[in-house]
Amino acid sequence: MYKLQRLKERTEEAHFGNIEIVKGDEADPRLPAGQLDAAIILNSYHEMPRFKEILLHLRESLKPGGRLLIAEPGPLPAEQTRAEQIARHHISSKFVADEMAQAGFAILEQRERFAQIPEANWYSLVVGQRPSSDEEWAVEMKRRVVASLHLRSGAEAADVGCGDGFYTLPMALAVGSTGKVFAVDIDESSLSKLKQHLVEGGLRNVELVHGAEDDPRLPPARLDVVLVANAYHEMPAHKAMLRGIRAGLKPGGLLVLMESLSEARQTLTRAAQVKRHELSPETARNELQEAGFEVIELHDPFIQRAVDQEGKSRWWLLVARKPSGQ
Ligand SMILES: C[S@@+](CC[C@H](N)C(=O)[O-])C[C@H]1O[C@@H](n2cnc3c(N)ncnc32)[C@H](O)[C@@H]1O
Repeated sequence: MYKLQRLKERTEEAHFGNIEIVKGDEADPRLPAGQLDAAIILNSYHEMPRFKEILLHLRESLKPGGRLLIAEPGPLPAEQTRAEQIARHHISSKFVADEMAQAGFAILEQRERFAQIPEANWYSLVVGQRPSSDEEWAVEMKRRVVASLHLRSGAEAADVGCGDGFYTLPMALAVGSTGKVFAVDIDESSLSKLKQHLVEGGLRNVELVHGAEDDPRLPPARLDVVLVANAYHEMPAHKAMLRGIRAGLKPGGLLVLMESLSEARQTLTRAAQVKRHELSPETARNELQEAGFEVIELHDPFIQRAVDQEGKSRWWLLVARKPSGQ
């Protein structure tokens, strides 16, 4: 309170009439909703244990398109955990950017050594934006999902339940001409739309696969990574599909699964969730483990976005591995 009192005195002394001092609390900066063009957190984010709630509140207080800038001393050693960094009163831009993205910010800029205080620390910087339209959200989702696949040039991947190729096209670009993407769907009309997009984009490294309800028809033990995005809930024969996906992966290969789940439907049965085109991450985690995968990461939320046309806002993403000895 003393600090706010001092700030009040200073603003009065300087005759600033346009500064409103707000006493926030640990989880809520108590700012007006949807009104701000920009917000900044300077050298303070590392002191916020309830950063998830703070970021969500800040996102809501920005106008669509508004920006949040977080600057912290850095760069920091990459091997330090978040807890180790916080104990030393700092946090790396990598953690900040991940956490902002999880809270629904599109990351516009992430820079180490952004500015130096004379004879003291360098500062790193992360700038996020509250996306302003469905199109901007779509771009951001595409960017984040494809980044989570860690595709390198020459990799071989599959997009199972590819639809008309929302993720297939950026995957094909990421693996380059020496790599390959198998695009699998049971719906022929989606595959023919994708074929058209591939021709228009001049992409020749995608093989279209007309899968069966219970078989993705992948080549055996060849793939580095398989993506199933917003499609697993549509697979009643999920056990057989997981068997087929596991068979298509190399030992050590990764399966990345993404689905949405609204707060309101968290406790519903699998059948009820699937009817609403959703699924809980716990259900998927159990099913993947039963199918012989090691679940290595669960990001929930992976993307917390403005509600889309289908009423979806919270997306989770799970990464599982085919054990190496198999
Ligand atoms: C909601 S769409 C998602 C498309 C794309 N992954 C995306 O996120 O834009 C779900 C897709 O899964 C496909 N699908 C459903 N069951 C499938 C199965 N057993 N094998 C392959 N594709 C399947 C559907 O035909 C549909 O194209």
